[in-house]
Amino acid sequence: MTTEIPAGLPMERDAGPFDPPRALTQLRDARPVSPLRFPDGHDGWLVTGYEAVRQMMADTRFSSRLDLDVVHVPYETGMPAATEPSPQIPGMFIAMDPPEHGRLRKRLTGAFTVKRMKQLEEHIGDIVERQLDHLARLAPPVDLVREFALPVPSLVICELLGVPYADRDTFQANAAQFMVREQTLEEKMGAYIALNTYLSELVTNKRAEPGDDILSDLARHDDLTVEELTGAAFLLLLAGHETTANMLSLGTFALLEHPEQLAELRADPELMPGAVEELLRYLSVADIFFRYATEDLELGGETIPKGSTVVVSLLAANRDPERFENPDTLDLRRNARGLLSFGHGVHQCLGQQLARIEMRAGFAGLLRRFPTLELAVPAEEVKLRTDMNIYGVHELPVTWTAGS
Ligand code: HEM
Repeated sequence: MTTEIPAGLPMERDAGPFDPPRALTQLRDARPVSPLRFPDGHDGWLVTGYEAVRQMMADTRFSSRLDLDVVHVPYETGMPAATEPSPQIPGMFIAMDPPEHGRLRKRLTGAFTVKRMKQLEEHIGDIVERQLDHLARLAPPVDLVREFALPVPSLVICELLGVPYADRDTFQANAAQFMVREQTLEEKMGAYIALNTYLSELVTNKRAEPGDDILSDLARHDDLTVEELTGAAFLLLLAGHETTANMLSLGTFALLEHPEQLAELRADPELMPGAVEELLRYLSVADIFFRYATEDLELGGETIPKGSTVVVSLLAANRDPERFENPDTLDLRRNARGLLSFGHGVHQCLGQQLARIEMRAGFAGLLRRFPTLELAVPAEEVKLRTDMNIYGVHELPVTWTAGS
């Protein structure tokens, strides 16, 4: 057992672009629930073991009111400072606890059911094909993030929410600012205000003239204020494209770096649904989340005192050898059931069915249309998003043989 309290969260991908930082896995194996000194100097906890992470996420006494809070907590270090949980941001139910959380989430669950998403499958397939047509018209090498991985989820979520895709420059630039881990409060607030102003106008218009989209459906509920509608739109827009985009690009990178696995997947497209689950587990792009202990709580044999800041690593948990055999091996035939990549408990990802459909269609289309796809730079030169809240690659230069 380690006695020294580690300072800060290890972020450097020193074990490879797809693997957790070594210090993180060592800590998990030594003490899956361990004290951690936060960058502002206060002591909190780090949870890395599969069972402990799962138990913690199922327990709402670990409050979510520290997640995604740019407005009240000075996140300049990318990690919360010692503070009481801040006032909630209207509509941002990812950072709320029951019962407020449920009041908002339940308005949206109908729009994201497996059945509703199945109905959209064909349409999402069309969006993917059109983006692949666009890709095929370009002269390689191209950046796969810019030309494919980001546009696909962006087009899909814009259409679902009824946000004009033509406005994407406004919201993507601001959303990107918002995702940078170490960012001054002023910069974050600037991006937040710009995005908020844009979305607040949009939902106000939808309330006046509802269309056939999810935000209009929400706007029809008179008990939701414009601030709540704006917050919910903000959350859906952000959660809906950064995550999936990074899965598509980092997933492609991982497949290209595992040629024997890729060849199996190409040979047997039936493997795709399972392969997507395994990529979700193996890559865990949405890795770090925060909680706040509202009372003294037992977790993994430790007592977490009331008022503690707690940080979890879903990546470390998804790579826990206590739960998955050979966890650091990408095995597309594995049964990855139980993965924590979409979280667990009341906040479990609302968009997970949508994300799965986008990923299955995205990877399948890309592999089918570009049988000679390969990296256009050495793997070591791919720029990793170690500086961002959602992991992935900043760019993925790829190439293919023309006409193939
Ligand atoms: C929540 C991951 C795609 C919307 C979450 C959480 C995780 C996650 C881990 C739990 C956060 C927590 O417990 O604090 C992912 C990953 C995705 C993905 C890995 C893609 C591969 C999407 C998409 C949407 C979406 C496409 C579209 C709308 C949400 C929302 C929440 C959420 C609204 C908050 C749910 C709540 O607090 O009740 N996601 N997500 N996500 N996700 Fe996703």
